[in-house]
Amino acid sequence: MAIEMAEVLLKMRTVAYRAIVIGAILVSVQAAFSQDRDKIEAGADLYNMYCSPCHGDGLINTGQTFDLRRLTANDRARFENSVLTGKNQMPPWKGVLTSEQIDQLWHFIRHHAFQK
Ligand code: HEC
Repeated sequence: MAIEMAEVLLKMRTVAYRAIVIGAILVSVQAAFSQDRDKIEAGADLYNMYCSPCHGDGLINTGQTFDLRRLTANDRARFENSVLTGKNQMPPWKGVLTSEQIDQLWHFIRHHAFQK
């Protein structure tokens, strides 16, 4: 009887422990999501201020400039390089945008990318 009780208690403890672990994971996943959301929102403001005149409202342009929605997850280095040094008609943004702001722009652009 005592052994059975001990087993039951042990099982309950395991279940409770799992619930705590799962809860902790959910909380951290949610924190990561809301961090991403903050970056996307900050990136949207920056985009509207600095990039939309050429790249278009809501990332949609008439085809005269590069469509930023074409950037894929692998294009991060290319993105940073082009933004910092400029390209043809696009001015360089080095000294204008901080690396944190470029990161926020990247999150905003990737959020709206054709290929997630
Ligand atoms: C004055 C107009 C103008 C502004 C403002 C502008 N761009 Fe551009 N951008 C261009 C043009 C034009 C191209 C195409 C360059 C080419 O390939 O000839 C381009 C291309 C790009 C590319 C692709 C470059 C590549 O690797 O092929 C990226 C990334 C980019 N812009 C990001 C941005 C971001 C982010 C902003 C805002 C901080 C911005 N641009 C603001 C005109 C602009």
